[in-house]
Amino acid sequence: MTIFAFPEKFLWGAAASGPQTEGTEGKPHRSIWDSWHAHQPERFFAGIGPEKVCETLHKYQEDVALMKNIGFNSFRTSIQWSRLIEDFETGKPNEEAVRFYNNYFDEMISNGIEPMINLYHFDMPEELQQRYGGFESKHVTELFSRFATTAFQLFGHKIKYWITFNEPIVPVEGGYLYDFHYPCKKDGKLAAQVAFNIMLAHAKAIKCYRELALTGEIGVVLNLTPTYTRSDSAADKKAAWYADLLFNRSFLDPLVRHQFPQELCELLATHHCLPEMSKDEVMLITDSRVDFLGVNYYVPRRVKAREAEYTLDYFTPEYYFENYIDPNGRFNPYRDNNEILPQAIYDIATNIRDNYGNIKWYLAEIGIAMDLESEGPVQPDGVIDDSFRIALMEEHLIQLHRAIGDGANCFGVHQWTFIDNWSWINAFKRRYGFYRLDLTTGKRQIKRNGLWFKSLAENNQFICEGPQS
Ligand code: FCB
Repeated sequence: MTIFAFPEKFLWGAAASGPQTEGTEGKPHRSIWDSWHAHQPERFFAGIGPEKVCETLHKYQEDVALMKNIGFNSFRTSIQWSRLIEDFETGKPNEEAVRFYNNYFDEMISNGIEPMINLYHFDMPEELQQRYGGFESKHVTELFSRFATTAFQLFGHKIKYWITFNEPIVPVEGGYLYDFHYPCKKDGKLAAQVAFNIMLAHAKAIKCYRELALTGEIGVVLNLTPTYTRSDSAADKKAAWYADLLFNRSFLDPLVRHQFPQELCELLATHHCLPEMSKDEVMLITDSRVDFLGVNYYVPRRVKAREAEYTLDYFTPEYYFENYIDPNGRFNPYRDNNEILPQAIYDIATNIRDNYGNIKWYLAEIGIAMDLESEGPVQPDGVIDDSFRIALMEEHLIQLHRAIGDGANCFGVHQWTFIDNWSWINAFKRRYGFYRLDLTTGKRQIKRNGLWFKSLAENNQFICEGPQS
């Protein structure tokens, strides 16, 4: 028997986001998700869009009680720009939205749950996308900082942890390279510009936060997927180096290490993809300081040197590698055969410790996808049996525990997610929640993983039977 105990005051909870949970009722504006779904419902799994989802707008009190019920001491969600802001140009807030967010956050706080509030979870207001091209435009970075300032002024006295962006690279990949977010463009140069502008928006928001001299902290959440190679050959290793440069270091280096990788700038210049930027903008980004980092991890990336010719007529990172499936890997049979590699958690932690000044960080998302069928029906004891998930969560946490023992500066774990929620074009195809959501009745039903988490969070440790490596 082995006990895995975590540091004092460790944060335990879940992550979610506004657009994936709230429902669209009462919003003064639409986000690109609301309008994209209205125009092309066929792009969404089973045609389901964000209108209703978890109905958090009405059920937040019930939901906070459910959070408390499974031991959360913290919870991340996001404020929807298209809900909070009435007038994008001035940053004037919508009164109904202010009331909702105040009530929601107060409910958490009075139940001992620390709200961690993110400002952008893929949800560009439609109007700003249509009028300016969203983050293609520098003006929108300015509007983002007005939105951020409004949020800080309204809620800054009660929110201790702010996050500027969740997975800032994902809207770049989805919207400008691989066609899974609106505006579904395929354009390497525009992708690089949007990536740069998002970092600029992040830096401007941080600047506003610092100027208000609030007592909380502000950070960013990055999806850091380590890259593993097919072999130790020089060509495969170089392929992995490129993947790491383009997918991890592209955001991690400017935002945490205060520098844009020289090699990245050269590479983008070679492909005529260097964004338009001024010296002052670059300095604003590299001078900005995050107080903490959030890390999302689901699956490792495996690559090999390119074998086939690159045939796309626009630049993507795959110019430098091909994805590779490890024939000896372990895979999740419930999610498109995604690879399972708990060791990656240890590798992420070591990278942050050794190469990023051991900045304090938390595991901001980790989740095990299953579909409804594989989770099965409610058992006679009223619980849904997703023990598959528990075993995997334990394996990942054992790696995190080992990393903390070796000096990783990790202060919490949030699992994705609290209640099954709407996941962009995948809608409800994959389930991740501690609670199942019945899409017809809106009823929430506990899963075994939720009960396991309760014991973990309340005891700040878990116990594994048998020897553990
Ligand atoms: C992450 C996103 C989150 C959710 C999970 C499944 O990449 O941050 O919104 O969709 O994947």
